[in-house]
Amino acid sequence: MSEPAPLRVLDRPGGRIEVYPDADAASRAGAARFARVIAQATAARGRAVLGLATGGTPIRLYQQLVAHHKDGELSFANVITYNLDEYYPISPLDPNSYRYYMQRNLFDHVDLAANRTHLPDGTVPEAFVDEHTAAYDRWIEADGGLDLQLLGLGRNGHIGFNEPSACSVDEALALPTRRVELHPVTVADAVKDFGGDVNRVPKAALTMGVKPILAAREVIMLAFGAHKAPAVSAAVSGPVTAGLPASLLQTVAARVVWLVDTQAASELG
Ligand code: GLP
Repeated sequence: MSEPAPLRVLDRPGGRIEVYPDADAASRAGAARFARVIAQATAARGRAVLGLATGGTPIRLYQQLVAHHKDGELSFANVITYNLDEYYPISPLDPNSYRYYMQRNLFDHVDLAANRTHLPDGTVPEAFVDEHTAAYDRWIEADGGLDLQLLGLGRNGHIGFNEPSACSVDEALALPTRRVELHPVTVADAVKDFGGDVNRVPKAALTMGVKPILAAREVIMLAFGAHKAPAVSAAVSGPVTAGLPASLLQTVAARVVWLVDTQAASELG
């Protein structure tokens, strides 16, 4: 498995930042880290528990993982996955659901057992949402906690669907997995996926909380493109605030690596 070298490595309050020439190189570096974590966690605990993300950003990384699996270099036989989030309500058969995305981009192509791939359930009855999201956190804990959490970055600095809020840092750090209303910026960014019709975008989602995300033993944040540069810069060296959820990564910086392309790094100085 070839691992590209970063062009630059920066140390910022938000963690170690590795800058790659493009998204492809950063994704190959991410896939190599995944393979290392899978090997190390399996050796230490008999399984690797991976937190996964959706969106456009991680697609190349998943393609790399599939390619390594097809080459016989990487097995998911001892892997358990927990995704960050899912729209609510949504059917897993809806092509815009994150369950559908994960099946198409990763799960259908590797040796992962169906009962080891978890996403919050977009079909859970309204009255049982709180019970379901609380159970999700218990499942992660029962599996020994996340060895690795992969993150993408919303333009408004959200992680998973933990949207900007006016709460205190302590309150934000304690947020569990739960139902949330989507931020207007997030709805606007999702319109293209829902046939350009804002009325078709779900207004709510189920998201892994800030607390379980930051409890991961290692966090990989991917950010590509100039449109992410302001959020990257503010998150890694601006104030720690619930108004920019990715800035909360500064509280666990020793466990965080940012894999970014030159465009996303363009406001880092
Ligand atoms: C959605 C997801 C996030 C993701 C973000 C960025 O809001 N809930 O987990 O990080 O989009 O998406 P993209 O990678 O397409 O820029």
